[in-house]
Amino acid sequence: KSGLLSIMEGLAKVGVPNEVLEFLFGWFEGGGEHPKIPEAKGSIKAVRSVAFFIPLYELYLTYGGIFRLTFGPKSFLIVSDPSIAKHILRENSKAYSKGILAEILDFVMGKGLIPADGEIWRVRRRAIVPALHQKYVAAMIGLFGQAADRLCQKLDAAASDGEDVEMESLFSRLTLDIIGKAVFNYDFDSLSNDTGIVEAVYTVLREAEDRSVAPIPVWEIPIWKDVSPRLRKVNAALKLINDTLDDLIAICKRMVDEEELQFHEEYMNEQDPSILHFLLASGDDVSSKQLRDDLMTMLIAGHETSAAVLTWTFYLLSKEPRVMSKLQEEVDSVLGDQYPTIEDMKKLKYTTRVINESLRLYPQPPVLIRRSLEDDVLGEYPIKRNEDIFISVWNLHRSPKLWDDADKFEPERWALDGPSPNETNQNFKYLPFGGGPRKCVGDLFASYETVVALAMLVRRFNFQIAVGAPPVSLVLCRYIFKL
Ligand code: HEM
Repeated sequence: KSGLLSIMEGLAKVGVPNEVLEFLFGWFEGGGEHPKIPEAKGSIKAVRSVAFFIPLYELYLTYGGIFRLTFGPKSFLIVSDPSIAKHILRENSKAYSKGILAEILDFVMGKGLIPADGEIWRVRRRAIVPALHQKYVAAMIGLFGQAADRLCQKLDAAASDGEDVEMESLFSRLTLDIIGKAVFNYDFDSLSNDTGIVEAVYTVLREAEDRSVAPIPVWEIPIWKDVSPRLRKVNAALKLINDTLDDLIAICKRMVDEEELQFHEEYMNEQDPSILHFLLASGDDVSSKQLRDDLMTMLIAGHETSAAVLTWTFYLLSKEPRVMSKLQEEVDSVLGDQYPTIEDMKKLKYTTRVINESLRLYPQPPVLIRRSLEDDVLGEYPIKRNEDIFISVWNLHRSPKLWDDADKFEPERWALDGPSPNETNQNFKYLPFGGGPRKCVGDLFASYETVVALAMLVRRFNFQIAVGAPPVSLVLCRYIFKL
């Protein structure tokens, strides 16, 4: 029996499709008794087209909460069912790894917290989570306010000149400035300058994005690394970022050595409250590649996600003046002309609901990626190890079976006096920050960051889509897909 199993696993490893294995070995383990996962056929072309969510959504409506998509020798399970998502993310999370995601992001994140699995992940998660303690997050609110104020000044100038502004790139710069200070006390100052380091961060980000949608991993071809000007540029950018990180780690280490603060649970250096400072003070190894991988991971994880949330929120608001007026009313009455404080976070209830609802309609990332490490049962279907799985948060968040008026932007669907919606109180039909042990470590940070930026901007400005602006459309999500 075990001999047969290892033959099957061997064949699976060399790329023999599941269907062929099933055909050859289906009799073994009583094959036909189990229900078979519905297979979406004849839809491959559609899914390869650019806006892949829409075909995956259509396929979900046809095939249901779990179905298989096959591309030549590869196949993927698409999950859009809350209880199966809960099983994979929480109940049996140990049986799943990050799979393809770890492969794609290796060049930039190495074994950082997002792609890492197993023991490395466990050890690093235990080191990093405490760094984002309550006192740290509260201190960050001041930073969010200052950064948002710098953006307001930039917008003031544009408004008085009657210029249109491209908010997507401004939000990207806002959140880069914030995450640089928050993670390693570095001021990119990207809202004012285009320095080499800012350009390097964007080069690396675009590369991660391109790799995630590339049909062939050309970067793995040895000679390509030396001849491709694009890869040389990426490598130079990575080197610049790594050198900068080395300098920052050295500066921070000196500060830690000189300070007289005792390390404790809510340890924080007021001059430098960064996550890096906490990690070094807690005894993290300054020379380790792991520390650099984790810093880089947080830089990327906390940057484009928050920028995308803000961009989509303003897009949604531009189409719903009713929501915008209600939002402005709340912001005026809570903040007046003060910077937001931690106490205000509880009072900005409608503002928070606007962000909650924007995250429902435009989750970042729209798909969570996993690979099964062992055989398992999803709903009523047995699955083998080595299955690549996409949990479609997009489908869960827009399912007509799970939501009334699923496509409507309606912050009122979340009661103001109720708890903030999360995966637990919504029983895994709402997963803006994932769920289970791999849930986002920056969820509270990101919620406050987006609430502060939203509040400060709508207090000062009205926004509308520029006349003659190109239509808004979805591009492939960041750092996700390789089909
Ligand atoms: C993981 C979303 C901001 C750091 C995740 C996951 C999601 C997510 C959905 C789970 C991924 C998975 O299960 O495969 C978001 C959104 C953000 C945001 C929507 C902004 C609105 C941040 C920030 C930080 C951060 C600001 C850092 C300060 C991380 C890390 C992980 C993660 C380190 C990996 C956790 C682990 O695997 O143990 N994020 N995130 N995120 N996020 Fe965030």
